[in-house]
Amino acid sequence: MENMEYFFELFDALPRGGPGNYESTKRAFDAIPCLPEFPLILDIGCGPGEQTIDLAKISGGKIIALDNHQPFLDNLMNRVCDAGLEEVILPKNMSMLEMDFADEFFDLIWSEGALYFMGLQNGVRRCHQLLKPGGCLAFTDLTAYTIDLPKPVADMFFSEMADFPQLDAKLAMVEAEGFTVLTHFTIPKSAWLDNYYAPMEIELPHLEKKYADKAEALAVFQLMRKEIAMYREYSDYFGYEFIVGRKQ
Ligand SMILES: C[S@@+](CC[C@H](N)C(=O)[O-])C[C@H]1O[C@@H](n2cnc3c(N)ncnc32)[C@H](O)[C@@H]1O
Repeated sequence: MENMEYFFELFDALPRGGPGNYESTKRAFDAIPCLPEFPLILDIGCGPGEQTIDLAKISGGKIIALDNHQPFLDNLMNRVCDAGLEEVILPKNMSMLEMDFADEFFDLIWSEGALYFMGLQNGVRRCHQLLKPGGCLAFTDLTAYTIDLPKPVADMFFSEMADFPQLDAKLAMVEAEGFTVLTHFTIPKSAWLDNYYAPMEIELPHLEKKYADKAEALAVFQLMRKEIAMYREYSDYFGYEFIVGRKQ
C-alpha cells in the first residue's frame, strides 16, 4: 500500500491491529489439549498485542511477541508493564519471513490475522517446523462463507490477502501440512465492529482534521472508511475463521 505512514499513524493509535476478542482467544486456547504447565508460545504478527496479553493471562506461559513494526511493540510493552507481565511477554522485532528459532522449539504458535503475510500455506508449513511434536497452531484468517463473493468484497478484502478463501480448502491445506484440525469457528461480528472498527472510527476524524490539506493522507483514511462500510454491508458473506490444529 502506498502512503504507509498515514496507515501506520492510524493503526499505532488502535488497541488491535485486526478483528478479534477475548472470548475467541479463550475459546481457541481451550481447544488445545495437553500443554505443559508453563508453555513456550510464539505470537506471530502480534501487533499492539491485545491478544498477546489475553493469551499470557489465559495460558500461564511465556510468550515471544513477534512483529516487525517497532511502534506496535512499544505500545504492547507499555500495556505489558501496566499489567505486570514483563516476566512473561518478550517483544521481538523480527520479520516473520526471517525467523531464526530452532526447529521444534515452541509448544504453541499463535497468529491472529497475520499468518497470510508469509503466504498462508508457507506460514502453516513454517509453524509446523517450529512446533514441538504434538504442539499446536492457532490462527485466524480471512475466509469466504460463500462461493460467489459479491465483487466489491472480493476486490477489497480478497484480492491480495486470501490464499485459500474457502473454508474447506483452508482446512484441507492445514491438514495436508501435517496438522490435525482440533476445532474451527467464526469469530463474532462484534470482534470486528466493537473491537476493531469502533476505535478506528473514533480516531479517523482526528487524523482527517490533522491532514485536511493532504490528499494522499485523506485517500488512506477514505479507504479505511470504505472498508468499514463494506464490512457493515457484506459481513454475512465473509469473516475471520479461528483454526486450531495439532502437529501430527
Ligand atoms: C492484521 S495485523 C494483526 C495484529 C494482531 N495480531 C492483532 O490481531 O491485533 C498484522 C500484523 O502483522 C505484522 N506484520 C506484517 N508483516 C510482518 C512481517 N513480515 N513480520 C512480522 N510482522 C509482520 C504487522 O505489523 C501487524 O502487526
